[in-house]
Amino acid sequence: MNVPHLISLADLSAGQITELLDCAQRLRPHALSGSSERGVLQGKSVCTLFFEPSTRTRSSFQLAAMRLGADILGFDASHSSGSKGETAVDTMRNLEAMGVDAFVVRTSIDGQLRDLIDAAHDSTRFINAGDGRSNHPTQGLLDMLTIRQHKGRDFSQLKITLVGDILHSRVARSDLHALKTLGCGEIRVCGPQALLPDDATLDGCLRIADFDEAIADTDVVMMLRLQRERMQEGLVSSLQQYHEQYGLDSRRLALAKPDAIVMHPGPMNRGVEITDEVADGPQSVIMAQVSNGVAVRMAVLKTIFGA
Ligand code: CP
Repeated sequence: MNVPHLISLADLSAGQITELLDCAQRLRPHALSGSSERGVLQGKSVCTLFFEPSTRTRSSFQLAAMRLGADILGFDASHSSGSKGETAVDTMRNLEAMGVDAFVVRTSIDGQLRDLIDAAHDSTRFINAGDGRSNHPTQGLLDMLTIRQHKGRDFSQLKITLVGDILHSRVARSDLHALKTLGCGEIRVCGPQALLPDDATLDGCLRIADFDEAIADTDVVMMLRLQRERMQEGLVSSLQQYHEQYGLDSRRLALAKPDAIVMHPGPMNRGVEITDEVADGPQSVIMAQVSNGVAVRMAVLKTIFGA
């Protein structure tokens, strides 16, 4: 597969997504313990260039790179010369001059990856670890891998419900790209009207206002983080009201199929979009998503290096 950069899942075909998921599945045993893959990226240097906070994505990329034998540089934007006014492009170029071969980038600016790619050497590789509200492709891939492990490879028979702040969610956009490309049978979306995009993002999705109706008979419930900063913008009236209308608790989960799985990309607002009993309950696959993140990121690193 010739994929030198991973910017958006919209750039990948169903065959390419499936190939990446198959590769991640094969790598799973190496992802969480001692790896026989340690020679694969020996001599390569990977930098996690994060201009926004992260727990899961940055740590799992670092572990993935280590388990493939790459040198890993964790760039800390809060202690960098960015605070003195250095631009992201200049920052990247300086790190590139130190021998970094691939950048894993998180930024609040939609589309900034393209500027970095344009300014870099042709041989330098880029992976999007979340840009603005646009894309979070490796989260999309790990979500698809988790669904596949629990529900099989045929997405055409599945009903999947996404709930919450879809407007500001790069995770939702990447999940939607992947679900549509993989031919998901029915995609339902549910959330406050002010937090649902009215562009092409939701084309092909069923908008269902009432959460009880949206979750009925569904195979997968994907909860999204309520981005609390949206409350200041007046898009959500109160946490209590949000929880009552869009919070997932045991009563609501009982309306889904008995073997439905519950997903959340993290970080979770416990007691807001999801209760403890559901987040930590038997139908939750949230920690499986996190574990799959390492394998998926190993697969993506191998792919961009053509290894
Ligand atoms: N899911 C996710 O992107 O989590 P982090 O922000 O902790 O990386």
